[in-house]
Amino acid sequence: VAGAAQFVPEGKSWAALHAASKGCRGCDLFQDATQTVFGEGPVPARLMMVGECPGDREDTDGHVFVGPAGRLLDKAFEAAGVDRSKTYLTNAVKHFRFTERGKRRIHQTPRRGEVVACFPWLREEIRVVQPRIVVVLGAVAAKAVLGPSFKLTEHRGEVLEHEGLRVGVTVHPSSVVRAENFTEAFDAFVADLKAVQKS
Ligand code: URA
Ligand code: SF4
Repeated sequence: VAGAAQFVPEGKSWAALHAASKGCRGCDLFQDATQTVFGEGPVPARLMMVGECPGDREDTDGHVFVGPAGRLLDKAFEAAGVDRSKTYLTNAVKHFRFTERGKRRIHQTPRRGEVVACFPWLREEIRVVQPRIVVVLGAVAAKAVLGPSFKLTEHRGEVLEHEGLRVGVTVHPSSVVRAENFTEAFDAFVADLKAVQKS
């Protein structure tokens, strides 16, 4: 995996990054996915959130968090007092990873190599968005930003300093969607969002 670096125009505007991301072939994921799903939101933005990778709906529509995880995120934002229109939303990996089961496309967690390959895009997004805080949603995003040995369960709800960046840590909205005890998982997610955006 060569990585995204050779496709990333460094030091350029968000618009230039967004345009260039469409042609990225930094790992194999572009081959089967429909399109690159780049981050979206105001630039600059005080708050930036990083998910895992686009899902089935995001892959088809070309926008971040428009499927089931996005609906959960919208509900949690409302409960936590987060304004989505003022938040820059992106993912650690910009192409959908899946396996086909009949007509269905089943999401698969991106491999470490793909997360590393895609990181130059996220690094440049952080540079242009200049967030006051970056909130990582789930283990894939957390490890992308904080390193592969980071343990999400030991730090959820916390705000950490990492290489000059303030990083808020919480779970992925899909884990809330799938939770056995939905109300408990939802309330804990909302509490994390409140805690990290206050600090
Ligand atoms: N899950 C993510 O991590 N990101 C999206 O954009 C959608 C679902
Ligand atoms: Fe490039 Fe990232 Fe897509 Fe891989 S997943 S092709 S590195 S944009």
